[in-house]
Amino acid sequence: METTLASLRSALEIVRLGDRQAREVNLHLQELASQLKALSHSHQDASQSAFGETAARIRPPPGVTTQKNQLVYCSAAMREVVAMASRAAASGVITLITGETGVGKELIARLIHLRGARSGALLVPFNCAALPKDLFESFFFGHKRGSFTGATRDQGGVIRAAAGGTLFLDEIGELPLDVQPKLLRFLQEGEIHPVGQACPIRIDTRVIASTNRRLQSDVLAGRFRADLFYRLNVLVINLPPLRERRDDILVLCDHFIEKYAFGRAIQLSPGAKACLMEYDWPGNVRELSNIVQRLCAMADDGQAPSGADVRRELSSPVEVSQLLPRAGDQILRPGVSIPPGLTLSEAVGMLERQHVLDTLTRHGGNFARAARDLGLSTFGLRKKHLRLFATGAKQATPRNIHQPE
Ligand SMILES: Nc1ncnc2c1ncn2[C@@H]1O[C@H](COP(=O)(O)OP(=O)(O)OP(=O)(O)O)[C@@H](O)[C@H]1O
Ligand SMILES: [Mg+2]
Repeated sequence: METTLASLRSALEIVRLGDRQAREVNLHLQELASQLKALSHSHQDASQSAFGETAARIRPPPGVTTQKNQLVYCSAAMREVVAMASRAAASGVITLITGETGVGKELIARLIHLRGARSGALLVPFNCAALPKDLFESFFFGHKRGSFTGATRDQGGVIRAAAGGTLFLDEIGELPLDVQPKLLRFLQEGEIHPVGQACPIRIDTRVIASTNRRLQSDVLAGRFRADLFYRLNVLVINLPPLRERRDDILVLCDHFIEKYAFGRAIQLSPGAKACLMEYDWPGNVRELSNIVQRLCAMADDGQAPSGADVRRELSSPVEVSQLLPRAGDQILRPGVSIPPGLTLSEAVGMLERQHVLDTLTRHGGNFARAARDLGLSTFGLRKKHLRLFATGAKQATPRNIHQPE
């Protein structure tokens, strides 16, 4: 009985997303969920302690989905999150996903999309931090050919690309203040006005937004419009940080070992597990994934990484705040072309700074992961980062360069 219960719960809580087959599996799992809920209450104490281990050992059926969209968990907090996501999916209302960096907000957005009525259509992610405000309107709402210099052809825009599907507004808290009313109008009226077009176009899309900022404080500080905040604040799903759902840590470790061991037999020693369980995980699941990847890279086949191995790896990542450009570190605004009048090496330096910074930020400050994307060794990236962002470095100061305060 216990084994069956544990296996079913494991299957339930290693949710795999990403294709039609996965959706069918998920529906099946949802049915099992209600049956298990009743069972698990009576067996809670007996099964809870062994559950993490069991969940980690059970492998979901092969070929169900890609590695990219797996959501792995076993904590009560995440079960509640997934239940809310299912309710959001069924309702179709605007959903705001909040939580620290690397907690899995994008995965939850994909889960909502896949469990909703629009799962056969596209989920279109749009990163609100990635575009300068002067490009926002035409990128977002589209434009007609000839509506401004450089508009050489009609551009449909991101919202139209999401018609019939889901628009995922990532990092909504970074949306420039003067662009916010235009988005609000779309959210309220369901219509867009492409630049240079007289008639509005009606677009039917569901909207999911995410942020790692406290939008309410931003409203009080005048950085975010109250009316847009209230329009977004309909159904809010808050993902707790990993340190507040420690039951997930070892299950996630096993998941990432499977992903990064490439078939080698790697098991964590009890000391390593204890260390991982105690750590505070400021970079959340992304940081955990990075640490496990490094442990796998360093371990020999059959070797069990020790507590000391884990402590060494945990002490090496750099805080994201340390990566941010300082005054004098000039970087290109994303989407802005290189201004004229620069020497080649000045222009290349600027591009390097932008690209290195973006990649590190995307990986929550994990040098190893960022280095892999950039085609560098971790050591090589650390050296490059030091060189590119050394204070006092002589840099050009053309227009269109974002100078952080
Ligand atoms: N529960 C989970 N199971 C498996 N992988 C996860 C889980 N949560 C997060 N991840 C992985 O961690 C990484 C970060 O997740 P995601 O991009 O969804 O986080 P986020 O909250 O959107 O982060 P950010 O605020 O930095 O954009 C991804 O590689 C994702 O696949
Ligand atoms: Mg994200």
